[in-house]
Formats: sequence, structure tokens, C-alpha cells
Amino acid sequence: MKTSTITRDDSKHLKEPVKPSDTGEVQGFRHVQRTTIALDATAALSSVESLQQLLADTITLRDLYKKHHWQVAGPTFYMLHQLFDKHASEQSALVDLLAERVQTLGGVSVAMGGDVADMTLIPRPPSGREDTAAQLKRLLHAHEVILLEARAMARSTAAAGDVGTNDIIVSDVIRTGELQVWFVAQHLA
Ligand SMILES: [Fe+2]
Repeated sequence: MKTSTITRDDSKHLKEPVKPSDTGEVQGFRHVQRTTIALDATAALSSVESLQQLLADTITLRDLYKKHHWQVAGPTFYMLHQLFDKHASEQSALVDLLAERVQTLGGVSVAMGGDVADMTLIPRPPSGREDTAAQLKRLLHAHEVILLEARAMARSTAAAGDVGTNDIIVSDVIRTGELQVWFVAQHLA
């Protein structure tokens, strides 16, 4: 871990240092609680697993859009700067929808960057800035990873009878993703 820039002397100014609790966790990340939404427990468990993967990948795509929103350059700067930000906010809305669906089904939604990095299937981009074509291709690849898994999850959630999760995957994740791909792909035509 990175060493702190706060010196021992600075810490003296803290009257009562607050430390994070090691014992406050009341539900493990992999544990899914029973709910009263009249949904089969096995179906809920399997939906939570799918949603967590979709959530980790959607957080990554959202962050990828923000990265490129900040780092894009060149003659199409203004257009792409705006477009990437619009897509980032739409992905952000999906993140919230997916995370709250995990909680609704009794799970614990993945939330922090470190956990997301461990779970995502989207390749990690370089920390440096890529050129515009590389940014667009990277976004399209990330979208395709999500759309591929979302289609499979749409089929499995429908077969298991979890139509609520199926609706979010089809109406929100797939439709938003497909539309965004169209807008991004046209810049490479
Ligand atoms: Fe901005």
C-alpha cells in the first residue's frame, strides 16, 4: 500500500482518531439473504451472481467513458467529450439500477474499485492517454463484453422465472448498450 504523506506530527492534531471497524461486517459478500418477494431462492441466487458480474462490468464501462471524456483530444474533441459524458451518466444510472436489484434480491452489491477490478471481464486500459481510434475501439469492445453476457443472462433469468431481473437486463442494459454502440461506432465508419 502507498505510504501516507501525513506525518506523525500532523496526527497529533487529531483529538480522537477514528479507525475503520474490523468487526462491522454483518453480511458476507457471497451471502444472499432470503427475501419475501415470492421468488424461488435458487433463481434469486443465480440472478445475484449474474447481476454482480454485469454490475462490475458496467461500473468499468462507466469509468472508461469518464476516462475518455477527460482524455480525448483532436479535431473531434468537443463532440466526443460531450458524447462520452452523456454515455457515462447513462451507464451510471444502470449501475444504480443493477446494484439496487442485487440488494432487492438479498445480495450485497459489489461497490468499490478494488473489488470491481478483481471481477470485471473488461480488459484494463493503460493509465496513460490513448488516441481517439483506440479509445473508440476500447469502448466498443467493452460494450460487446457486456452485451454478450447480458444476452445470456436475459435467457437464463427468463428461464428461471426472474422476470424482474430479466426486464432490467433487456429493457435497460441491452437497449442502452445497443444504442450507445451505434453512436460510438459511427465515428469509426
Ligand atoms: Fe466533465
